Amino acid sequence: MDGNGRWAAARGKERIFGHFEGVESVRAIMETSAELGIEYVSFFAFSEENWGRPEAEVSGLMDLMMRSMKNETKTFLDNGIHFRVLGDRSRLSDSLNAAIDELDEATAAGTRMTAIIFLSYSGKWDIRQAAERLARAGSGDLEDYLVTAGVPDPDLMIRTSGEKRISNFLLWQMAYTEFVFTDTLWPDFRKEQYLDALKEYASRDRRFGKVK
Ligand code: IPE
Ligand code: MG
Repeated sequence: MDGNGRWAAARGKERIFGHFEGVESVRAIMETSAELGIEYVSFFAFSEENWGRPEAEVSGLMDLMMRSMKNETKTFLDNGIHFRVLGDRSRLSDSLNAAIDELDEATAAGTRMTAIIFLSYSGKWDIRQAAERLARAGSGDLEDYLVTAGVPDPDLMIRTSGEKRISNFLLWQMAYTEFVFTDTLWPDFRKEQYLDALKEYASRDRRFGKVK
């Protein structure tokens, strides 16, 4: 999700208003995904690097996360969506961690779709923590130690706002992911734009390094 700040600036507003509007896009994409029978939808909400933003923006985003979880509890339950958060949970506040655990447990029976919010996440951090835990275990498969263990690798990664980079997201897991880049800013990325991205994905010929 990218472009919230620019969306707000274009309207002469503070960056946080872009983040507020971005939450509406999250809901739209989540609902559309559930309607379409998509089993996993993930949102890169806050990176390890984002901790370096001004304190007011960081705390604003954490507050927004907390509030959105409370406001959307019904959306998750009504749509059979299991809510999960993946990332370096040790950097989150106790109250946010408690709220995350509560919502995860409350929605765990949701079998229609899993919605994953990547929070305080970076791909390099994930590989590093997995390598450390694997080394302690002595042997095994690195994949089983990534925070995404048990979650299928993404089929499609959509990046909004015209930027064309991975920005330390799922580095290991995106080995064969298809990429769609759009100039649309995240707060403007709704059902219509999502369906366009899915149409583009559907036209791709995925060979996974093999021949057809
Ligand atoms: C994405 O929007 C949201 C987060 C990374 C939290 P940005 O905040 O990166 O918005 P721009 O890139 O400044 O427009
Ligand atoms: Mg950005």
